[in-house]
Amino acid sequence: MCGIFAYTGDKKAAPILLEGLSLLEYRGYDSAGIYMPDFGVVKTPGAVAELTKRIGDTASDAQSGIAHLRWATHGEPNEVNAHPHADCNNTVFVIHNGIIENFRELRESLEKRGHKFVSETDTEAISHLIEEFLKKDNDFEEAVIGTLQLLRGTYGLLITSTKHPNTIITARMGSPVVIGLGEGENFIASDPTPILKHTKKMVFLSDGDVAIVTPTSHRVRTLTEREIARPSETIEWDVAEASRGGYEHFMMKEIMETPEVIENALRGRLIPGEGLAKLGGLESVKERLKSIDRLIIVGCGSAYYSGLVGEYLIEGFGGIPVEVELASEFRYRKPIISPNTAVLAVSQSGETLDTLEALREAKRQGALILGVVNAVGSTIARETEAGVYNHAGPEIGVASTKAMISQIVVLSLIALFLGRDRNLSEKTGVEFSDALRSLPELVSKVLTTTDAIKAVTEKYKNARDFLYIGRKFSFPVALEGALKLKEVSYVHAEGYGAGEMKHGPLAMIDEHFPTLAIVPNDSVYEKTISNIIEITTRKGPVIAIATEGDTEITKIANDVLYIPKTHEALTPILSIVVLQLFAYHFATEKGLNVDRPRNLAKSVTVE
Ligand code: M6R
Repeated sequence: MCGIFAYTGDKKAAPILLEGLSLLEYRGYDSAGIYMPDFGVVKTPGAVAELTKRIGDTASDAQSGIAHLRWATHGEPNEVNAHPHADCNNTVFVIHNGIIENFRELRESLEKRGHKFVSETDTEAISHLIEEFLKKDNDFEEAVIGTLQLLRGTYGLLITSTKHPNTIITARMGSPVVIGLGEGENFIASDPTPILKHTKKMVFLSDGDVAIVTPTSHRVRTLTEREIARPSETIEWDVAEASRGGYEHFMMKEIMETPEVIENALRGRLIPGEGLAKLGGLESVKERLKSIDRLIIVGCGSAYYSGLVGEYLIEGFGGIPVEVELASEFRYRKPIISPNTAVLAVSQSGETLDTLEALREAKRQGALILGVVNAVGSTIARETEAGVYNHAGPEIGVASTKAMISQIVVLSLIALFLGRDRNLSEKTGVEFSDALRSLPELVSKVLTTTDAIKAVTEKYKNARDFLYIGRKFSFPVALEGALKLKEVSYVHAEGYGAGEMKHGPLAMIDEHFPTLAIVPNDSVYEKTISNIIEITTRKGPVIAIATEGDTEITKIANDVLYIPKTHEALTPILSIVVLQLFAYHFATEKGLNVDRPRNLAKSVTVE
């Protein structure tokens, strides 16, 4: 959840650290802090701009330092609780992303030994523990190793000391850490974004790794082995990809990138004319997949809703029974998993802790574990046996937009991949793959309607509640549309199966309660129309998302937003883009910062 960034090299550290932190702001941003050797600690509530102001012109000449953006888990988001945290003598400085579960007992025993704590955080126990080890044996590295052996929980750590000003020790357990390797300088961060400008050569740490980093060296070890091999990788994203590209918000930039994102997800993965999907990431488990008789998809938030669309796709084309589970519930209900079960995690960040833990539970029970992940080198990508990358590029806006669409595209490819290996005919495969290939053009067409969508949001700008309804493929679309509106506009919205209206929600309907009805020309069109009429006869205003050429709908709905005609199974991609734009315009009209909705962070690495 938090962002960590460190530099050690031959340049002034302050500007590098501050710029790096600002690129990490999307990860969490209730407070920020920095430590540099000749400068000490500066901490502030708020974001990097505040920290930069505090440091002001007095910026130091230090050539190393550690920096942090906090998203509070223990203790209020104030200056005292912001990181870095020091020991009693102000000689050891610690920055932490994660949660130390046994911090209370550690703190109690340290306090008994005379340590004075100043914050309410779990992190502070780490700096005092290191101090305690240093009393016995003045070896910095061994003191850190001894400390880590006592910690229970998750961490991505940056640790430095006044005695070793250019050495930064980093450690990973459950929270991501990547080391950027430069010439005469090295970087450490929670993800590649702040490093990309300086170097593309990176080493991703695995859980249990500890690395000792100086300007000219890095050595990776574990708690027991003094040195282990962790080869570097070249990451091709550039920083420009992570900037707003001229749009006012990342959210709009990312929605506008959807056609390209779909191209990227499909690139090299369809065999035109044969109706086949070629998924290199699944090749290694292709034989095992043939014996799979049940697939469980796990994810959170929008990734869960992509999974629901995937359920229809994979059952329809892939011929495998599919269940979709909220990752946050999965392991608490003792799931029954056989060796012929595959569990597929869907996650943009690849770091969502609930999704990761669901996957680990499935692995413990012997399932084949797979992933649909966007962030290359993320924990989920590393812990799955096989999977498919989205290649959607970095998604900075907290609301998932382009990544969510690419998840559906990848799930469509998986449905085709599995289906053609089972009973799906070549004819159906060809039809579906042709429909997939035409998607970028169709989405581009939807994107040209952004002004029409904006005009509709203006009409409903005072509404306090919205209902979203749909059937079959459009049911998960309704759920996702409601989530998107809630998270960026803070207005109440609820997604419902259109057929469920008479079972309760219809009671809420009156002239002040608008409904967004997703009603493409599909196999359940007539039934959804009946549900819309149930609403309009009770004076409920209806905004319909319908297929171009549908003139009947204009006689029923108050407003209509059109999507082009496509394969029934792919209508969610087009209607979700409409609903993303609807949420965007509705929220920005209210002057809200859609990229950073209150109370939320991009990557949810706590349970
Ligand atoms: O990184 P993930 O795909 O695992 O994230 C899952 C959810 O946290 C995410 O989709 C969240 O619901 C978004 N804010 C939705 O826009």
